[in-house]
Amino acid sequence: MERLQKYLSACGVASRRKSEELILNGKVKVNGVIVCELGSKVSDSDTIMVDGLIVNRQDKEYYLLYKPEKTICSVSDDKGRVCVVDLIDTKEKIFPVGRLDYDTSGLLLLTNDGNITNKLTHPKGNVEKTYLAKVDGIVTKDELSMLEKGIILDGVKTKRALAKLKKVDKKNNKSYVELTITEGRNHQVKNMFNFIGHKVLKLKRISYAFLTLDNLSIGEYRRLTIKEVKQLYNYVK
Ligand code: URA
Repeated sequence: MERLQKYLSACGVASRRKSEELILNGKVKVNGVIVCELGSKVSDSDTIMVDGLIVNRQDKEYYLLYKPEKTICSVSDDKGRVCVVDLIDTKEKIFPVGRLDYDTSGLLLLTNDGNITNKLTHPKGNVEKTYLAKVDGIVTKDELSMLEKGIILDGVKTKRALAKLKKVDKKNNKSYVELTITEGRNHQVKNMFNFIGHKVLKLKRISYAFLTLDNLSIGEYRRLTIKEVKQLYNYVK
């Protein structure tokens, strides 16, 4: 038996504190009865619903990590570099959804759900990923438009993208550009900027589908809520 709020957070519904709020606000039913007290204990044999949705203790885990630079998107590394999975405290065998380069920071999903991983990383998944790139030189409007319309990388045109110039540092001859792409080709962002003649100096992924890095500091992570997992499944339907 386990306290209801602990059970809810273990199921990925929300944090322990948010789960307490859900209980106090009468959103949680145990075996068909609304439970408003925080002391109630439940087990896997109980049927628990939050906002009308059944909650299961998941064997699937979903994490959103603010990946630091100098970490590798892999489950092990023969060069002894820190792997992203080492940053997450779990007994489950989780793996990253797609890849970020060793020197790229930002939003990375990790899970043991192979099904959603395949859908999200499939080229037809069309998942929007937004990167903030600090690049050498001053990026022009024409160059932004080239990035948006598509350029040829390895003989294949990149799909339509969105490129926004966020800041220009004239003194140091640097630009900051937000680039949203739906593909996930190897080193794609760096290669796209290389193509227009601007070396990427720093790269950070700031969003993935509807998920952002809100409230996370570098190296921190959180579990996705059930709602977010459902939204992700809907996103790639
Ligand atoms: N594009 C890159 O060039 N590197 C990354 O890490 C992600 C996208």
